[in-house]
Amino acid sequence: MVSYICCTKLNSMKYIKLYLLVAFLIVSCKTVQETSNKADNLVIPVVQDTREIQGGMWIPSLLEGINEQEMMQLGSKMTAKDIYDVNNSSLKDAIVHFNGGCTSEIISPNGLLLTNHHCGYGAIQSHSTVEHDYLENGFWAKSYEEELSNPSMSVTFIKRIDDVTAEVFSGITETMDEAAKMKLINQNILKVTKKVQKESWQDANVKSFYDGNQYLLFVTEEYKDVRLVGAPPSSIGKFGADTDNWMWPRHTGDFSMFRIYADANNKPAEYSKDNVPYKPNHYLPISLDGVAEKDFTLVFGFPGSTDEYLPAVAVDQIVNVLNPAKIEVRDNALKIVDSYMRKDPAIKIQYASKFASIANYWKKWIGENQGIKKSNAIQKKKELEAEFSKIVAEKDLVGYSTLLSDFEKLYSEIESVSLARDYWIEVAYRNVELLNITFRAFQLEQAYLNGGDGAFEKVKEATINRFEGFYKNYSAEVDKPVFEKLVGLYAEKSPKEYLPANMQGVNFSDLTNRVYSNSKLTSLEGAKELLTGSPEEVMKKLNADEGYIFGKELHTVFYSKMEPKFQELNLQLRAVQKKYMKALMDVFPNKRFFPDANSTLRVTYGQVRGYEPKDGVYYNTTTYLDGVLEKYVPGDYEFDVPQKLRDLYNNKDYGQYAENGKMPVCFIGTNHTTGGNSGSPAIDAYGNLIGLNFDRVWEGTMSDMNYDPDICRNIMVDIRYVLFIVDKYAGAKNLIEEMKLVHPKK
Ligand code: ARG
Ligand code: ASP
Repeated sequence: MVSYICCTKLNSMKYIKLYLLVAFLIVSCKTVQETSNKADNLVIPVVQDTREIQGGMWIPSLLEGINEQEMMQLGSKMTAKDIYDVNNSSLKDAIVHFNGGCTSEIISPNGLLLTNHHCGYGAIQSHSTVEHDYLENGFWAKSYEEELSNPSMSVTFIKRIDDVTAEVFSGITETMDEAAKMKLINQNILKVTKKVQKESWQDANVKSFYDGNQYLLFVTEEYKDVRLVGAPPSSIGKFGADTDNWMWPRHTGDFSMFRIYADANNKPAEYSKDNVPYKPNHYLPISLDGVAEKDFTLVFGFPGSTDEYLPAVAVDQIVNVLNPAKIEVRDNALKIVDSYMRKDPAIKIQYASKFASIANYWKKWIGENQGIKKSNAIQKKKELEAEFSKIVAEKDLVGYSTLLSDFEKLYSEIESVSLARDYWIEVAYRNVELLNITFRAFQLEQAYLNGGDGAFEKVKEATINRFEGFYKNYSAEVDKPVFEKLVGLYAEKSPKEYLPANMQGVNFSDLTNRVYSNSKLTSLEGAKELLTGSPEEVMKKLNADEGYIFGKELHTVFYSKMEPKFQELNLQLRAVQKKYMKALMDVFPNKRFFPDANSTLRVTYGQVRGYEPKDGVYYNTTTYLDGVLEKYVPGDYEFDVPQKLRDLYNNKDYGQYAENGKMPVCFIGTNHTTGGNSGSPAIDAYGNLIGLNFDRVWEGTMSDMNYDPDICRNIMVDIRYVLFIVDKYAGAKNLIEEMKLVHPKK
């Protein structure tokens, strides 16, 4: 069958010079590998400037037409069906949501899963002790028996995506107020989810797209027996650590491997020693041919969230008010924790994962602020808004005429409560661990007050479980100075109208000493002792504890003052944003609009490209092992290089993985990615794995609010470096043998 696609939308774009039709064969019933020679049958339109067809995170089930066209213009040889197909195996069957936050992909017929080192970090850490430190030394299972189970881990496949917008909007009328609309929408979602056709082991959930203008239903399968297979030492998997994080040029081998286990019928099952390696519908062949500048790249994964369509006033508030406050809090917390980690190896293990996650967004916000300022993003948004207003006025689109002034008013109203809320989140919830503990205890008290003895017992059990895990990695010695510094900052800088009374006019050093010498919550034994007894006894003991008393007031103010105000205004803002999203698409029919990321499966395509970070400087697309050795600082906790890797380098012992005698390490591309895309496969024009996404470049971290094809780049580990480490460094030939290595360019 030959099908013709007419590109009406693209025709109007100024940069496209020619073409009317594209003809290509749809080979719908074959797998991705089998269709990879279709290129010869295509007439691909020439594009003058490919920048305008890059960026965006697209819905895999809706690629036919424009997206498919754009991908081919960028060099892809795949059809939309090669990427997503409900009835046949397609790329999507190899893409797996990893533990809710990252992405992973299947790379062998035996359910072998590849993801980032930083995504497997928690699991690797949980199996580590000072004697068997897998973070430090790496871990490699030489057989299935040696693979390590991870009780709280799960991975999820997307089986099907359906558009359910009409059903979700059924009964909604324009005269309803926002709360009533949301209530009916939620009821409809429940109905849709209940009546969906699916197997007993599958789940279904509905997600909102385009700020609530479209709803899609996802049928999923969740596997809970996921075992650790391999991880390089941190000196490879986390090489450059926080100094290099969010930076290019980069030299990190940020990967780890897991395996999915299933029951005898290949279905999801709780962990059991009788489970067997999962047999996938598709797994990614791995290309040994590497990449060159301008090669097509597709990144397939689960981006978490973006805010690409915020008005200028919102971006202004984020960049000038909220980000600076959060950065300052974390700046202080990180300095203190770092000083302890550097002098005590046990504290270093305890705090490694927490430190990395706090440092990660701290550094991202700094880069984001710089990028927004440098690229003049706020001004550009204002220009777009001026254009928008002009067209709205010209065309007399009355329904859209107050949107921008509504934004102005609401963002100005919400500013102080947003800021106060951020202080609470950053100080009382995230960075002062004792306050987080008091928050858990506070939830227990609330459960008792609202749900009585039954609720109390249930929440108490969950709380104790949580505490058992938490205190393993807790040091009151580290937490105490963090408390003093951060609580002081909160009191000084948070808007006064939302400041808890017990934070006013206080000597923070005295307060800190009192809390940390008297509170039972600074140790697991103490915490358990507080939680022992009848509900009444527990409440009495808790409410006499200095730490709890202090935290409780903060949490009470959060729930009684901040949340109600914030939610009230936020509901209104979301309604305006929903209308604005629709308005943008109506007013600018020829612009490309992708739905903001929402942790659902997306495709983003682009090319391998260098960039100019500043005047006169050009960054190449690829880094090599030579660069690892250039950065090498013996014994340093970020830049040490293992002896074995130095030996391999000195002997140029790269096996089949080298490129002209050099070992490639990382490369960059124009793929539009965000948090959650970590671990996503980078796929070539034919559907083969060429890299593993793990980061973005500093100058482009603003892509969450302002993707700019000139400087936004995603960073990937070259898959050949992954294979080289597995094969030559770790000697895990058993894993290489499972994979399918291909040469698409030869
Ligand atoms: N910046 C990357 C991402 O957002 C990598 C983070 C892990 N590394 C770290 N040093 N914290 O996930
Ligand atoms: N490093 C991120 C992640 O973990 C990816 C990114 O933000 O670019 O998902």
